[in-house]
Amino acid sequence: MYNPPLFQRLRVRPVCTENSSTNVKSFKQLLNQVVSDSLARVSGIDAPDAHVITASRPEFGDYQANGVMALAKQLKTNPRQIAQAVVEDLQAQELAWIDKLEVAGPGFINVHLNNQDLLERGATALAEVKSLLPEPAQKQRIVVDYSSPNLAKEMHVGHLRGTIIGDCLVRVLESCGHNIIRQNHVGDWGTQFGMLITYMQEVSQGQSDIPNKLADLESFYRDAKERFDNDADFATRARQAVVKLQGGDADHLQAWEQFIDESLRHCEAVYEKLGVTLKRDDLDAESRYNDKLAGIIEQLREKQLLTEDEGAQCVFLPQFVGKEGEPLPVIVQKSDGGYLYSTTDLAAIQLRAGELKADRSLYVVDARQSLHFQQVFAVARAAGMADEKLSLEHIAYGTMMGSDGRPFKTRSGDTVKLSELLDEAVRRAFDLVSEKNPELEETERQTIADRVGIAAVKYADLSKNRTSDYVFDWSTMLSFDGNTAPYMLYAYARIKSILRKQDSDPSVDQNKGAMRLSSIDAPEERMLLMKILQMPEIVQMVADDCYPNQLCNYLFELAGIFMRFYESCPILKAEAPLRESRLALASLTAETLKQGLSLLGIEPLERM
Ligand code: ARG
Repeated sequence: MYNPPLFQRLRVRPVCTENSSTNVKSFKQLLNQVVSDSLARVSGIDAPDAHVITASRPEFGDYQANGVMALAKQLKTNPRQIAQAVVEDLQAQELAWIDKLEVAGPGFINVHLNNQDLLERGATALAEVKSLLPEPAQKQRIVVDYSSPNLAKEMHVGHLRGTIIGDCLVRVLESCGHNIIRQNHVGDWGTQFGMLITYMQEVSQGQSDIPNKLADLESFYRDAKERFDNDADFATRARQAVVKLQGGDADHLQAWEQFIDESLRHCEAVYEKLGVTLKRDDLDAESRYNDKLAGIIEQLREKQLLTEDEGAQCVFLPQFVGKEGEPLPVIVQKSDGGYLYSTTDLAAIQLRAGELKADRSLYVVDARQSLHFQQVFAVARAAGMADEKLSLEHIAYGTMMGSDGRPFKTRSGDTVKLSELLDEAVRRAFDLVSEKNPELEETERQTIADRVGIAAVKYADLSKNRTSDYVFDWSTMLSFDGNTAPYMLYAYARIKSILRKQDSDPSVDQNKGAMRLSSIDAPEERMLLMKILQMPEIVQMVADDCYPNQLCNYLFELAGIFMRFYESCPILKAEAPLRESRLALASLTAETLKQGLSLLGIEPLERM
């Protein structure tokens, strides 16, 4: 039977039906699915991994499926033979979005996508950029525990990473259509509050201007601590205050509430500056669990998980051992009856698993708390407080370092207040903008600086692999070169200015409907569209693995590919309809960048 060349059979077909939903599905996801199905048919093995990756070189096509080799090894057959069978099986399906398939090397399958289909997906994205967000198979309820400062002090640089990374993850997961429950698990309960209340009472006896005194929480804490350390009588009163507070004494509770309220106002001012979406409603304060803690101990006792060790209630699990192999306890109640951080976290897990019915619970917390989370998760599982349906994930991040390679501090060695750090970022951005654009009005320079300064701090953080420590450095984060916020914001503003130029060009059809994507004949055009259409893959990856730097890398590469396109493909000088097509591609790039940046919590500027 005559078998026409593959491209003849495939090219003319309409877009496949899998694409009938409004979303531009990820090619990787689609390919993994169809290649895996085909591998299963060919080999008889159930759901094999197709292992699809983006092609490492243009001559290998757009994607490569590398799963054949592992399967062939398992079946002890020739991988090229299996690959050939898969290619034939897929060709028989006549998938319109695939142009060409070929077997390469020891058994790779190279996939070339169909240009007409790419253009149609591009048109869908141009009509609605949201179609570039992934559509997960299943909607989930996801708890994201982030920021979560201790309220005794003001937020400092140590809270920056968790706040920004958490905010980005919340935006990404929400954009995928999941149901997100933000939890700001603030530390608002514990011995230091006895000291603070006692000091508050002392201060208010002299003059009652408490809010004024609390304006600088940091110095208030320092003064209280000094009284505590140097006056035995004060220290005794502070200890009694904790007992009274935890016993529910009305006066103490009222003073405590006043302190917490003021402290939260400090946090909210920081969130506002950062453009972070946490609200009072998202509070999941430690104090909320106060009356659940005794019950937690009871449950552990019923499950026979408790052991008393020097008066303390402990859980010993076989996987936690010390250096010498000695069993390590998870202490859940001290010998004086007090509860611990882990006890509260167990109560919180119970709420998240039970009442909140979460599918995933993410803890965006410093990597130094890894052992704490491993222990709490293990105890919760052992006690049946969280079953396997709930995925418990510590989204750990490393420490922010100064240029001396030590945790970031002020010159005098104090911790840096977050609000002051952000003000400094804006100040530095203002100087930079003034230097670059001295002709701009001061108010405009200020508006730009507000955005650029905060964006620089956020982007510098998000663009690093979260698990490593990173060096906080003003000059790199404010540089216009490299993977930085100024570069990204500038790239976006530049495309917008190109698009504005066409608005004022009388020879260009001003009807926006005329912005029709029709050409990806130039390799730079095709590469740019291909990159744009890969956005759902990247967003999906961040939603799954929680590494925002993957999104930053993607946006940085996208901006770079646009610049190459812009250099080699004239836009306004081209004839219609090529000019309209290139304008459409530029506009789609801008919208994609904007959408990506907004997932990072960064609002780009139209002009810079
Ligand atoms: N407040 C804690 C701290 O500053 C972080 C809380 C993180 N969340 C949690 N569920 N443990 O160290």
